[in-house]
Amino acid sequence: MSEERLRIAIQKSGRLSEGSFDLLKSCGLKVSRGKDKLYGRVHELPIDVLLLRDDDIPSFVADDACDVGIVGQNVFEEDRLNLEQEHAAEAVMALGFARCKLMLAAPKEWTFDSPEMLEGKRIATSYPGLTRLWLKEHGVKARPVMMKGSVEVAPRLKIADAVCDIVSTGATLDANGLKPVATVFESQAALIRRRAPFSAEKQATFEALLKRINGVITSRDAKYVMMNAPRSAVAAITEYLPGADAPTILELAGASDKVAIHAVCRESVFWDHLEELKNLGASAILVLPIEKMMP
Ligand code: PRP
Ligand code: ZN
Repeated sequence: MSEERLRIAIQKSGRLSEGSFDLLKSCGLKVSRGKDKLYGRVHELPIDVLLLRDDDIPSFVADDACDVGIVGQNVFEEDRLNLEQEHAAEAVMALGFARCKLMLAAPKEWTFDSPEMLEGKRIATSYPGLTRLWLKEHGVKARPVMMKGSVEVAPRLKIADAVCDIVSTGATLDANGLKPVATVFESQAALIRRRAPFSAEKQATFEALLKRINGVITSRDAKYVMMNAPRSAVAAITEYLPGADAPTILELAGASDKVAIHAVCRESVFWDHLEELKNLGASAILVLPIEKMMP
């Protein structure tokens, strides 16, 4: 019986853990953790949760130890690049959290104006595959020096001249006298799965999980927007409210030239166009959260 539970690997602690647990929670899945804290069980669906180091997640999924995983695209891409054959795991969807960039960074005193600055240099990184790819694409001959951790101290220790490391706030680079000079890879959390087909039971669980994740992701950034506007401006205003089905236009009591517009809209898109909406005569604008939205 138990082997028919879908096993999902998530990061034990670090950049992705909180977002991964939050995602499962938003999906209505409560994880009760085992005593060893390496294992959790979901009650709402037949899912077991394994808590691992993020770097181990792609190979655990590939090797059948887990069926699916939540991992940074950076870690997954690096793992793929370091394999000769096709990876036994594949990305299913991006999850929209744990965004970060893999960046080349150099000592602050460098004046960096072009990739050629890196010619002949040693670049400390935990991502030699992605680093090499970037160097090749930019026609630069430099040598990645593999380091598992504390990459940012390499220039100070004279182990390397520059680094290629994950940056989210930039605080780590700054504290080590380094500045970002080029983006090598943009990353966020992704759901990965083993390519090989699942048993019918696992497949059903996987699909149920996907459906919930899709529901959470589509509603995450969505807002219910309401405003009053001149009837004549409806078409122009609707242009600024994309990402949703046709908006609802409602009559306003006692006003023939004004209507209420209700629409579901991505919040970021909405804020980008607030000024235009006002210029078109929109007033009494309300932005409401959406708890859940099923496509
Ligand atoms: C990265 C990187 C830095 C830090 C940068 O490590 O190696 O230590 O994050 O973040 P900041 O720009 O906000 O200062 P990561 O979290 O990927 O840890 P891991 O390599 O141990 O998985
Ligand atoms: Zn890691």
